[in-house]
Amino acid sequence: MVKKLKILVTGSNGQLGQVLKKISINYSHFSFIFFSKDDMDISNSKILDEIISNILPDVIINCAAFTNVELAEKNYDLVNQINNISVDHLAKFCSIYKIRLIHISTDFVFDGNNNLPYTESDNPKPINNYGRSKFLGENSIFKYELKDSIILRTSWLYSVSGNNFVTKIVNKVKEGKDFNINSDEIGSPTSAHDLANAILFCIPKIKNNQTEIFHFSNLGYCSRLDFAQKISNLLGYNLIISRSNTVTNVKRPKFSPLSTKKFIDIFDYKVNEWETSLKNHISKNYG
Ligand SMILES: NC(=O)c1ccc[n+]([C@@H]2O[C@H](COP(=O)([O-])OP(=O)(O)OC[C@H]3O[C@@H](n4cnc5c(N)ncnc54)[C@H](OP(=O)(O)O)[C@@H]3O)[C@@H](O)[C@H]2O)c1
Repeated sequence: MVKKLKILVTGSNGQLGQVLKKISINYSHFSFIFFSKDDMDISNSKILDEIISNILPDVIINCAAFTNVELAEKNYDLVNQINNISVDHLAKFCSIYKIRLIHISTDFVFDGNNNLPYTESDNPKPINNYGRSKFLGENSIFKYELKDSIILRTSWLYSVSGNNFVTKIVNKVKEGKDFNINSDEIGSPTSAHDLANAILFCIPKIKNNQTEIFHFSNLGYCSRLDFAQKISNLLGYNLIISRSNTVTNVKRPKFSPLSTKKFIDIFDYKVNEWETSLKNHISKNYG
């Protein structure tokens, strides 16, 4: 009998972690072990070592992260501890116990001054604490030369759980009144469901001697305003959504779409346009 690949997922109560858990039943050729923050705090390196050395998974998917961009501006030590130092420890244990690592990173490693979607060879230049901590976390991983491992950058994630843009806009739209959006960002909305399937699809196909970066998002890009308008239309509302100019303290990349071409080419994978996945998401969860 062929041995099943044992996959350990961190941060399993987050958006991506929850979707991975949900779809794991469709991947019976893998065995999964899910750890929420309460079960395994990745910032506690002793616990991390104990659990990893005891389970000895073949692959770790690291979905654990500090993702609150506003709070990250106020608490660099905490965000750096989780998104960088803990990731360093995780990668070190992967190296010691010969485990493959799938680490999730972000479009926020870029400054947003491009006018074409960012590729894996573009230079990161983060402009806020969240982006800086995630970029440092990526660099920590490279020290360990992990085989058959990847850093997968994604963007504008949404799922049915969590405090994401789609959930917020759905709630706002359901009030039935026109409203404003305080953002002029452009990016690639990405279904956490699509990302989770892409991760599980690519795992058996990854071949490298050193961790490699890939980008994965749904295809195409839009402004936050277009995104909100699309959500409203898909819900069957005809609201006027305008842009407000309230000043915020947190800098965010103005243009951060990711090019998924390398992922599509190397793994021979079909990726949905963002509108298609959004339509599926809205009809499935709010239809
Ligand atoms: N959301 C996006 O739009 C987006 C965009 C680009 C990239 N990403 C990346 O995609 C990945 C998944 O994001 P997501 O949207 O699923 O984030 P999420 O919903 O915030 O989930 C992250 C999970 O990690 C947990 N966590 C925090 N500190 C931890 C620790 N010390 N030990 C263990 N778990 C810990 C969180 O628990 P608590 O909530 O209890 O703290 C949460 O359950 C992250 O790496 C993120 O940087 C996200």
